[in-house]
Amino acid sequence: MAKPLNKNLHRAHRAKKDEFYTQLVDIEKELKHYKEQFRNKIVYCNCDDPFESNFFKYFAANFNALGLKKLITTSYAGSPITGGQLSLFDVKGLKTAKKKEPLKIEINEVKDFNSDGAISLKDIEWLLKHDANVATPLKGDGDFRSEECIELLKKADIVVTNPPFSLFREYVAQLVEYDKKFLILGDQNAITYKEIFKLIKENKLWLGYDNGGTKWFQVPNDYDIPTESRKKIVNGVKYFSMGRILWYTNLDTTKRHEELVLYKKYTPEEYPDYSNYDAIEVSRVADIPMDYDGVMGVPLTFIDKYNPDQFEIIGQTHSGDTSPEVEALRKDPNHRHRGIVKGEKKEKYARILIRNKKVKK
Ligand SMILES: C[S@@+](CC[C@H](N)C(=O)[O-])C[C@H]1O[C@@H](n2cnc3c(N)ncnc32)[C@H](O)[C@@H]1O
Repeated sequence: MAKPLNKNLHRAHRAKKDEFYTQLVDIEKELKHYKEQFRNKIVYCNCDDPFESNFFKYFAANFNALGLKKLITTSYAGSPITGGQLSLFDVKGLKTAKKKEPLKIEINEVKDFNSDGAISLKDIEWLLKHDANVATPLKGDGDFRSEECIELLKKADIVVTNPPFSLFREYVAQLVEYDKKFLILGDQNAITYKEIFKLIKENKLWLGYDNGGTKWFQVPNDYDIPTESRKKIVNGVKYFSMGRILWYTNLDTTKRHEELVLYKKYTPEEYPDYSNYDAIEVSRVADIPMDYDGVMGVPLTFIDKYNPDQFEIIGQTHSGDTSPEVEALRKDPNHRHRGIVKGEKKEKYARILIRNKKVKK
């Protein structure tokens, strides 16, 4: 039976909103920190049309520098062509500008295939044009959840991409299920999703390095961006900045072993208690008191500074956090959501609840 029209429209709208493309500069800025961890590894980019994705471009261009064993990318039937960052549209039988054909690309070696004296993306182009085994059509639509993509996932060591944000929970759950290393982009709000937060709390997922500032993503020209400040057009190419976009990973970082330097001392005046949680309100991460031994409510941005040797994450001031640790902190059954600072009435403070492990009780 056909799906109701509005459901289909909704789905199409949502899918369209997933079409934004990571810039090479952002990939380079992050990936430079992990070079050693990629040596001899099979990298899989499973939401990446090689003709559009700078993840493909990055790994293909740096195949030898990183010492990769293999690079696999698969593309998705639903993704439109945005204008070809790689001008490979004339690769016959692989792709035409009109028809979208989900593809698998597997690269095992990059050398001076075209004998021009240098190894560059031109050699990748040569490889795609001359070796029919490198790029093959997928049987299905290239959905990361499809059987053939899961088979590729099983082979992979590290998955790196910017996945569809509308499927972020499911995407991460699959990576965890198959016990994969990963480095992926996601919205800052994903931290608060129950499933993602649980992984962060259990130290199975953390943030990468480059999580500050604005990242701009290339979008199709008909992509609707109502807010002017989030839109720019450079050389006819449309870009969108969509709030805070972060790197989520389970690859080790030096950053997560660095201690946050604390300089403030606790006073009850500066750090008011909540009336509905047994914790104090800390409005800025930089102001976390160095000597407080109880539970503190801190802004979401704390996660970017989180060192599991220094702090313990207890939970969130959110009605959805029903973990025993958070239940034990609740003081008011009628106000189970955000923190209320004593003297105020509103459930206002959406906070991460933490404890400093280094302060003795
Ligand atoms: C945010 S875009 C990023 C594209 C590319 N990875 C990049 O960083 O430039 C997400 C991509 O995932 C694709 N996609 C959407 N749903 C998918 C699915 N179920 N399986 C695989 N890819 C999907 C979209 O077509 C889109 O190209």
